[in-house]
Amino acid sequence: MKIFVLNGPNLNMLGTREKAIYGPNTLKEIEDFTTSKLDPDIFNLQWWQSNSESEIIDRIQKLTNENFDALIINPAAFSHTSIAILDALRMLKIPIAEVHLSNVYTRESFRHSLLTAQAASIIMSGLGKSGYYYAALALADLKKG
Ligand code: DQA
Repeated sequence: MKIFVLNGPNLNMLGTREKAIYGPNTLKEIEDFTTSKLDPDIFNLQWWQSNSESEIIDRIQKLTNENFDALIINPAAFSHTSIAILDALRMLKIPIAEVHLSNVYTRESFRHSLLTAQAASIIMSGLGKSGYYYAALALADLKKG
């Protein structure tokens, strides 16, 4: 199962950024943790990060012509603001899992609206670094039917 893992703005700063909320791990450490938990005979995850809304839209558009089985996306703050990313996600025919490290519903009210999650089949929020791992498992289950 080939899964593209797209991470949005400021997630390149994990490890130093608001550790009480997002935990002590860098994005690369979360990637390595997720890979170590998943069976390599079943899962192949490709990780990518950008701070730019336009780069994220371009990358999602490119996904429409690629052969991934699913997308895991943590759009970070763009989840709360970007109709443009929602529209791009709606062009995808593959299932989408939206991941947030923190439980956005226990935080400021502006984080309670997840625009991009309207294109997702699955939402994971508040599972910390394990969110990506559980999202991959859930997407595999969804594929099995
Ligand atoms: C986040 C939650 C967002 O509200 C925030 O802007 C982020 C990270 C999370 O993973 O918990 O940058 O997506």
